[in-house]
Amino acid sequence: MAQKKTTFICQNCGSSHNQWMGQCNRCDHWNTIVEEKLRVSSKKTFAASSDHSAPRPIKEISLQETPRIALTEPELNRVTGGGLVPGSVILLGGEPGIGKSTLMLQLSMGFPKGPVLYVSGEESLEQVKLRADRISTGSAEVLLLPETDVELIADQLKKNKPGLCVVDSVQTLFSPELESAPGTVSQIRESAHRLIQIAKQLGVPVILIGHITKEGQLAGPKVLEHMVDVVLQFEGDRQHMYRLLRAQKNRFGSTSELGIYEMQGSGLHPVSDPSQIFTRPRDESLSGVGIGIGMEGARPLLIETQALVSTAVYGTPQRSTTGFDSRRLNMLLAVLEKRCGFHLGSRDVFLNIAGGLRVDDPALDLAVCSSVLSSSGDLPISLDIAFCSEVGLGGELRPVSRLDQRLMEASKMGFTEVVVSARSKLENPPKGLKLHTLKRVDEVAQLLFG
Ligand code: TYD
Ligand code: MG
Repeated sequence: MAQKKTTFICQNCGSSHNQWMGQCNRCDHWNTIVEEKLRVSSKKTFAASSDHSAPRPIKEISLQETPRIALTEPELNRVTGGGLVPGSVILLGGEPGIGKSTLMLQLSMGFPKGPVLYVSGEESLEQVKLRADRISTGSAEVLLLPETDVELIADQLKKNKPGLCVVDSVQTLFSPELESAPGTVSQIRESAHRLIQIAKQLGVPVILIGHITKEGQLAGPKVLEHMVDVVLQFEGDRQHMYRLLRAQKNRFGSTSELGIYEMQGSGLHPVSDPSQIFTRPRDESLSGVGIGIGMEGARPLLIETQALVSTAVYGTPQRSTTGFDSRRLNMLLAVLEKRCGFHLGSRDVFLNIAGGLRVDDPALDLAVCSSVLSSSGDLPISLDIAFCSEVGLGGELRPVSRLDQRLMEASKMGFTEVVVSARSKLENPPKGLKLHTLKRVDEVAQLLFG
């Protein structure tokens, strides 16, 4: 017999409480707790069949049953770790308007193992068709289903047995089993649970699209992160043309890969030479610009760091960063001040990573320090030099990982000099590349500006 139960669920973190509260004591967010009515069914809906629940020796389990479905889209293929695993569930998060629906429609239309069931709970069939005409790639059979009831979607999945199912978006889904409104935590959790169960049963990969809030959290879908196999994040500034796709969690591959797309009039196009887009064409030298060699996943990437140092107008100097950790900048400024005697304490410092990229690779430290020094003295850095070293609290230059690969990229992009730590171990540096090996960050000022 079904019994009704009510519970209070935080819409931000998904924790449940016995009573209503103004502030969630788990995530400290205000006004996020909502009363939700749950219907607890006495019969367990997700009971696995008895023969599946018997233990099996690990040696007897063969892997041949789960070959990957390789994708025609090279970037998506790399980020997922070589294609989609049948029966896996992927959550694709991103801000509204970033291009999630476009990316998934593109994937569907070029999917090698059709038909594809595209469930659209947000847009009408005509809207999806209009977008498909704009993209017009691939020839896979795509079946559009305007539906939000998860039970009916499950029926269609069983009936059509597609090669892939895309659900746009998970926030619109609802399960008739529950009384709460679509988009609430319990509805999202229940609907996703049902789809995950069906995906595993039929061996169909399912992609759930989820919107994230301004703070960068998957609103509601955050509670799904532990249930799904792969969590992909689609990000990038909407003003910039470039979109970055990265894996936050991947049960079948690494999470360090980055996919880069460019949004054009005819959909998203993979960017094959990413170093070019994060640096300016090197024709004029400007003060305050330093090129660092970072790593995004397994790919080296040349990144332009731009600094502006000016006299503080107010008593307290401003420190502002875009795309870089502001605490790390403060640390680097303190190192420059304390260890090297550059007086930056009374000056405003602004730092920007070009191209809308967000980086946290310590190998960019030296590029940041150099661009700050360059702007501070209004002396441009030679266009042929790139930087690749971490800076420690003592002002010492520290070696970075995968230096050979980074140097290859710099050489490929036409740089002829690279500043690295004297402690770096170099196996075979690329020919034609001059290396400046320095011990301390103050030596770099000497090297660049004499
Ligand atoms: P959309 O995929 O709807 O974003 P999301 O599903 O993440 O909310 O598309 C986002 C934007 O992309 C939209 O404002 C229009 C733009 N766009 C293009 O520039 N070119 C195109 O070919 C398409 C299909 C969309
Ligand atoms: Mg959309």
